[in-house]
Amino acid sequence: MSEDFDLLVIGAGPGGYACAIRAARLGLKTACVDERATLGGTCLNVGCIPSKALLHATALYEAATGGHMADFGIRLTEASVDLEALMGKKDEIIGSLTRGIDFLFRKNGVTRLTGRAVFQDDKTVSVGDRRVRARSIVIATGSAPRAIKSVVVDNASGVIVDSTGALSLPRVPGHLVVVGGGVIGLELGSVWKRLGAQVTVIEHEAKILPGMDGDVRSEMAKILDREGMTLLTSASVTDVSISNGRAEIKLTQAGASKTVDADTVLVATGRRPVTAGLGLEAIGIKVDERGFIPVDGRCRTQAENIYAIGDVTPGAMLAHRAADEGIAVAERLAGLPGAINHALIPSVIYTLPEAASVGMNEEALVQREIPFRKASFPMAANSRAKANDSTAGFVKLLAHRDTGVILGAHIVGALAGTMIAQLAQAMEFSATAEDIAYTSHAHPTHSEAVKEAAMALLNAEIHI
Ligand code: NAI
Repeated sequence: MSEDFDLLVIGAGPGGYACAIRAARLGLKTACVDERATLGGTCLNVGCIPSKALLHATALYEAATGGHMADFGIRLTEASVDLEALMGKKDEIIGSLTRGIDFLFRKNGVTRLTGRAVFQDDKTVSVGDRRVRARSIVIATGSAPRAIKSVVVDNASGVIVDSTGALSLPRVPGHLVVVGGGVIGLELGSVWKRLGAQVTVIEHEAKILPGMDGDVRSEMAKILDREGMTLLTSASVTDVSISNGRAEIKLTQAGASKTVDADTVLVATGRRPVTAGLGLEAIGIKVDERGFIPVDGRCRTQAENIYAIGDVTPGAMLAHRAADEGIAVAERLAGLPGAINHALIPSVIYTLPEAASVGMNEEALVQREIPFRKASFPMAANSRAKANDSTAGFVKLLAHRDTGVILGAHIVGALAGTMIAQLAQAMEFSATAEDIAYTSHAHPTHSEAVKEAAMALLNAEIHI
């Protein structure tokens, strides 16, 4: 039987849609199937994009009400939030982006299929009543919030919610308890805190943001604490129940039991890969003990001509990792080299200030006994951060002790997420401290802090 398509991509998130568009542009007859009515997956619909719209809007509100504007002599007689209008604007932004992917599919000739895809064999997938055959298939089904045992999330009620529910709460909770001091907890906790909620974060590790560089974790904890977010660390939630429309959270901290109550609980304890109902057994793919689809360095699964990319595979659950893998797979299918450097995938937390990193952190270098030197440059000594009166954070660079090659970069700062791109690029080209220090950086910019940190690695810093 002949195939309908050269490539079928299952999932239209950032990994799947990027893969489909790249493949179509390279001349492959391509289809992309998703069961959601709109394209863009979690990221565009209920993840990266709506959360950033809310973070942006609430940062404006905080600047107006928290004294930042007043410090510059800008006096507002009244500032208030119309939550419905805010959510409407967020939905408008989502709509314009998801329709944009539709447009890109049409422009590039990607066939869009809507429905649930189920493998029948290694070349056939059913989508509703239709059977679709493809020479190669990419699984890009992403991830979903991971629940904690015995806690029932009900986004509609607005009492115990996950990240999806926390993007659309009907009112600002008086007290929001966030279970999990990771990326989602801190970003969405920040949104509701800026809108007036009292926010308590319960994190079972000793510090928030596991996986980040230790200095970033400490600095972020210090800043969030100073801003009034309550951080309960080394604390484990044992039960969450609802009584009289409020949530009761039982936890243990340092051996003691505590009960906290809240209007809303956000469960943000990580995400799990989505593979249920895909029919993987029909093609002989076995998931690993955590439910991920095992792949090799080229995104190949155990089944021939079937690939998996992004959150459904082990690795950082980041939209840009998925997109980069999708593009690489499409290029390889079209006979191009298709490269991706998994060691240099930046990660960003979009709080204020932002935190961002790329490459290895100090703890990993110590553990792997790689000789290194380090330098940090405080944003408080950066003239642009001073001019903006937003001086929290630092740029920390880690370089190989002998060669000076940059091995890791960690930034806390208002524009950390944008600044990290320069370092990812430099590290991709194996830049040394000298390469960065002797590259001209425009003045006055936040990025000069990167140059100064590199100069500090050479004992040549100017402003500290
Ligand atoms: P996460 O893995 O970043 O953080 C989960 C946190 O919950 C960890 O700190 C963990 O120690 C803690 N935890 C787990 N069980 C707990 C319990 N029972 N009690 C207390 N604490 C507990 O997961 P998160 O924030 O849910 O995000 C999921 C994924 O989505 C992450 O991989 C993240 O990278 C990705 N994401 C990325 C964003 C970005 O790049 N800006 C934004 C949002 C999500």
